[in-house]
Amino acid sequence: MSAKIAVFRKEHFNAAHRLHNPHWDDATNKAIFGKCNNPHYHGHNYELIVKVIGEINPETGYVMDMKVLSDIIQQHIIERFDHRNLNEDCAAFKNLNPTAENIAVVIYDILRKEINQNLDLQIRLYETERNFVEYPALSQNF
Ligand code: NI
Repeated sequence: MSAKIAVFRKEHFNAAHRLHNPHWDDATNKAIFGKCNNPHYHGHNYELIVKVIGEINPETGYVMDMKVLSDIIQQHIIERFDHRNLNEDCAAFKNLNPTAENIAVVIYDILRKEINQNLDLQIRLYETERNFVEYPALSQNF
């Protein structure tokens, strides 16, 4: 078995959200989420990095065809989230607070179904240049 290698595809989407817990009163929501609780929403330029890990296919020299990976991300993530209000427009966040953490898990779950199960997958999502999340956090395969 040859060593595994990681390939990455970087994509971008703009989306609006509001962080809010409907089980809390307004003061608690404001105290916990601050500006991100603004009832009129606010936007982020999300930077998405999809990491795919696997062995190099000896016939293609690829882990995965990056055009195929790019098309999957476009079709299943960018078209779904870009220029949307995540809370209002996206079923995944109807009852799920659209934090960077939750968005990354949702993206992972969508992409996991589209990418060959022999390949490992990890999502990194930048909400700002300085704030970003990674999911899964750790994997014994990486
Ligand atoms: Ni925000």
